Amino acid sequence: MSNHTFSKRVWLAAPVLAGLGLLAPQLSQTVMAQETVKIGMILPMTGPSSSTGRQQEAAAKLFIQQNGATVAGKKIELIVKDDTGAPDVTKRLAQELIVNDKVSVLLGFGLTPLALSVAPLATQAKVPQIVTAAATAMITEQSPFIVRTSFTLPQASVPMAEWSLKNNIKKVVTLVTDYGPGLDAEKWFSDTITKGGGTVVENLRVPLRNPDFAPFLQRVKDASPDAVFVFVPSGFGAAFMKQFVERGFDKAGIKLIATGDVTDDDLLQEIGDPALGVVNTHHYSASHNSPENKAFVEAFRKANNNMRPNFMAVGAYDGMQLIYKALDKTKGNTDGEALIAAMKGMSWTSVRGPVSIDPDTRDIVQNIYVRKVEKVGTELYNQEFATIEAVKDPFKAAKK
Ligand code: PHB
Repeated sequence: MSNHTFSKRVWLAAPVLAGLGLLAPQLSQTVMAQETVKIGMILPMTGPSSSTGRQQEAAAKLFIQQNGATVAGKKIELIVKDDTGAPDVTKRLAQELIVNDKVSVLLGFGLTPLALSVAPLATQAKVPQIVTAAATAMITEQSPFIVRTSFTLPQASVPMAEWSLKNNIKKVVTLVTDYGPGLDAEKWFSDTITKGGGTVVENLRVPLRNPDFAPFLQRVKDASPDAVFVFVPSGFGAAFMKQFVERGFDKAGIKLIATGDVTDDDLLQEIGDPALGVVNTHHYSASHNSPENKAFVEAFRKANNNMRPNFMAVGAYDGMQLIYKALDKTKGNTDGEALIAAMKGMSWTSVRGPVSIDPDTRDIVQNIYVRKVEKVGTELYNQEFATIEAVKDPFKAAKK
């Protein structure tokens, strides 16, 4: 076919294609493919975990606003999708983002089942999947293309058990949400406290969907332990605390200890005074005392109608940080294997403190802080009072 015939055919077909809305996107895609790096962010923007979506989207956008939308000469485009917290939707959206939008990186994943539904796609398509929220330890083992910037439940739960042993908490009941992260929290807290001479008298598991804590709390009361150790996912802490107080626990002499998911910064004001004095362990508090964090909290509040950032926001902020750093290192090369190689061993000063990506496990290594809920002025905060430095995920460390 001569060039003339070809261009004539295109010319003739152009009005038809344009009429179908097909020509413009096709042309712009070819041009943009050389210059734009697309990042597909999948989050629960609706449903019971919508606070995670709201926090993470706000943080990713703030990061781009602060650092510019160009890295290594490429333009960054963030595409945010709502999976409503349903794994089949997460998977479909990931497929569409990979095949149609040709994203270079996937980011987000608000709950463990949502992250797991995408892992085989990340492997097949060789697209990095940055998990910024979900925290069951085994997630990073499901694809060599997964890197995590949130945390793992064993990482947060072991220090809680160690603190309990040092503080005369010997007889405990655990109460967790009945799925991946809850089972991790239960196992690693229970094993650590048992090894240290404590006793776990009951392991209680509450359903993820429409949890009613009341019957479980009654069982905790009947067992009269020194403390109840609790994990519920971000967004569920206020419902739990309400029932905890309604059943008179604050006066029953049974201490509440938890991972920081329960006393989430996003909910702490709503929970109010019943949270005062709760000791918990986690990787981020909005009151973390560093210049980086002060600037982050201030900018986040300013950009988001005074919303306080929680640990989910920081997971996404660092996820963007990791992508920018990796693109810088590959000089804009978006090949999935090159990006993952660049991410391994990467370290930076996060607003949560110093962090790095473990090159063997692709999980984040970070400080875990022991905190107590206290009033600062008129607001409640998780006030850090002890630091366990550079904690690796214990689940993977134990396998070595
Ligand atoms: C999870 O589903 O992995 C998850 C969700 C929320 C949390 C922690 C873990 O706060």
